[in-house]
Formats: sequence, C-alpha cells, structure tokens
Amino acid sequence: GAPVEVVVEPGKTELAAAVGRRLRAVVEQASAAGRPVEIGLTGGSMGGASVAALVAEHEREPLDLSAVGLWWGDERYLPLGDAERNDTQADEAGLPRLGLPDERVHRVPGPEGSGDVEDAAARYAQELRSVGRGGFEVLMLGVGPDGHVASLFPGHPAQMTHGAITVAVRDSPKPPPERVSLTFEAMERTREVWFVVAGADKAQAVRDGLDGAGPDVSSAAQVHGSVRTVWFLDEDAAAAAGVSR
Ligand code: 6PG
Repeated sequence: GAPVEVVVEPGKTELAAAVGRRLRAVVEQASAAGRPVEIGLTGGSMGGASVAALVAEHEREPLDLSAVGLWWGDERYLPLGDAERNDTQADEAGLPRLGLPDERVHRVPGPEGSGDVEDAAARYAQELRSVGRGGFEVLMLGVGPDGHVASLFPGHPAQMTHGAITVAVRDSPKPPPERVSLTFEAMERTREVWFVVAGADKAQAVRDGLDGAGPDVSSAAQVHGSVRTVWFLDEDAAAAAGVSR
C-alpha cells in the first residue's frame, strides 16, 4: 500500500502551523501539475486551526488558489450559519479571508427549504460527482477518542455504507443526531489522507488507527490515501500512543 508518514509537533499551535505549511506545498505542487486542488476539511478543534493556518500562510505570502475547492468530510445537519456547523467554525477561523468564490466552497446543505437529511446527503453526493469527480487532493480528518472520522462511528450502521459516496447519519452517538458524512468509498478517492490529532485522550484512537484495527474499533484505520497517509500528531497524542518522531 501507499506509505504512512507520522509527523509529530510539540503542541496544537505548531501542529496547525505544520499543516498550513504542508497545505501550501500541496496547493503549489498540484496547481503546477495542472490538477484541480479539491481539499476536504475536517471539523473539530483541529479543523478550525487548520483553516486558520492556511489563511496565515496565504497572508504571509499569497497562494494561487485559482484551482482550489474546499469540501467537508462531514457536517452537522443544522441550518447554514449555525454555530455548531463545521463550515461556520471554518468561517470563524478566517476562511472568507482566502477570497474563494462561493461556488468553490462546497458546503453541505442544511435543513433550509425542503427535504431531510437524506436529501442533503444526496445533494452533496451530486455536487461531488459533478464538480469533485477527480477526488480529493487532500482529505483532512480529525479522529475522535472513539476512533470515529467524519461522522462514521465504529459500530454504527452508517459506517458500512456501500455503493454511495455520502450517507445520511441518524442517531449519531455524538450530538447532534443528524449528520451528513462521506462514506469510506468517498474517503478513499483522495491522493492524501491527513489525520490531524492532538491530545493524550486520543492515544488509543491513534494506536488503533496506525495498527489497522477493524471497523468495529476504528473508522480511521479504514481510510488510506492513494499516494500517502499522514498522521499529524502533537507530542501528547504521540507519546501516549507510544509513537516516536
Ligand atoms: C463532531 C466533531 C468530531 C471531531 C472529532 C475530532 O462532529 O462531533 O467535529 O467529528 O472532528 O471528534 O475532534 P477534535 O479535533 O476537536 O479532537
């Protein structure tokens, strides 16, 4: 399989900065190669920090973002602008300062208008199939202490969806109960998967992910980039998981 790389940084701040620098390199290389640069963002604390780091890179020395599109690995099925949505948190972390046109910031539909969470999942799949059909250049994923990635929770039936690139999640073990998530099949359509994980409480989740545990234990372990998989860890997560730099 493709190589697995582990990057260890002292703390969350340095970790986010490392992600920002690496995003710069990816944007530059993929643009130079003429590839669209579809980037999957994560929620959680490291999601916002990663967006802020990309914005900081862009403001330090402007990036050519003309081929960049942003997506989310999952979203809470809440109204656009809700403070609990991943895209709202990315906005608060400075995403608008990248100056991307709205049509390249691919937000998961909320309950506005008609439809339900299944409808939102279907619409996001449609957008991925039409605009993001080449797959992701990079998909960033936070990992929960329970081993979940995006909104695929170990042991929850949505996790094992086949034949679809998005899934409507109901009864999520973590609130809110309704979410839209990429499936494993969609997550595999990426050159690079980056797990971005900080904190000693993630030790077991990191261990299980690196050890290739089964889907009942680790959703993270089921996801790999076609070119590489990178685990970005802070010292606390790495040390507690017994990973050396
Ligand atoms: C959610 C969270 C969750 C998060 C991970 C990692 O939707 O419940 O966004 O999926 O991404 O638990 O979160 P941290 O990076 O904050 O630890």
